[in-house]
Amino acid sequence: MTPVLQARDVSMVFGGLAALKNVSLDLDEGKIVGLIGPNGAGKTTFFNCLTGLYTPTTGQVLLKGDPLPGDPAAVTDAGVARTFQNIRLFPSMTVLENVLLGRHVRMKQGPLSSLFHGPAFRRGEAAARDRARELLAFVGLGKVEDELSRNLPYGDQRRLEIARALATDPAVLLLDEPTAGMNPQETEAARQLIFRIRDTGVSVVVIEHDTKFIFTLCDRVSVLVQGELLVEGTPDEVRGDPRVVEAYLGKPPEEVEAELQAVQEGEQS
Ligand SMILES: Nc1ncnc2c1ncn2[C@@H]1O[C@H](COP(=O)(O)OP(=O)(O)O)[C@@H](O)[C@H]1O
Ligand SMILES: [Mg+2]
Repeated sequence: MTPVLQARDVSMVFGGLAALKNVSLDLDEGKIVGLIGPNGAGKTTFFNCLTGLYTPTTGQVLLKGDPLPGDPAAVTDAGVARTFQNIRLFPSMTVLENVLLGRHVRMKQGPLSSLFHGPAFRRGEAAARDRARELLAFVGLGKVEDELSRNLPYGDQRRLEIARALATDPAVLLLDEPTAGMNPQETEAARQLIFRIRDTGVSVVVIEHDTKFIFTLCDRVSVLVQGELLVEGTPDEVRGDPRVVEAYLGKPPEEVEAELQAVQEGEQS
């Protein structure tokens, strides 16, 4: 099976700095892949290469086997959506309007149709609103569609960003630190939301610092350190790898094991 998204030996050089060195990644359809690594490891840069924001210095990105289109709008159109490490909403627009912005990417209305506001335009608008409301309900924001997005609590703003990304009907969703700044309850809700997104057929890559979150969410995990792929494997393989424990987790394996044990016991109860 061809991976839905594939990076092959992607390198990205800024001036003299190699932010990524020959990084490869396969995202199979219906899977959740985690990307972890210390600050400055190149995780966000890698997402920028997967979304057409950056053109890799060398290497290739393939979407369903074809080269990724050259600019971010075309990449969105081709089915890759993302959220940002720093929330990028329109603060003075309502929650619903923010999702509609994502939705309009998918609407095939010509400029004349919007000029004359004909029946096709109105039908399109109504359908877009229905879909946006459906997505807000899906992420748990159904009751606040008329709030200005800046008035939402932080965790809800993150969920709104996800709803807006989903409004483009992506095949692939890239989440850059979706739980940053969340409390444990919000983090757990985010984990369940990502599972539900996966269950709708969307394939997901998620960047996070929280290793417990990643190891209990993902099918496979890649570890980036200083722009290089240190280890790739299942959560069990990665968390047991002495290189990961030393380079990234920075604590003895027993301690990491004990933490994960606690999470798993919590899940079973
Ligand atoms: N546009 C850019 N110009 C120059 N350097 C950049 C640019 N984007 C990222 N970098 C550098 O690339 C490295 C990786 O950054 P980043 O991808 O943001 O790491 P991470 O997301 O893993 O914390 C850092 O040293 C950062 O300063
Ligand atoms: Mg980052």
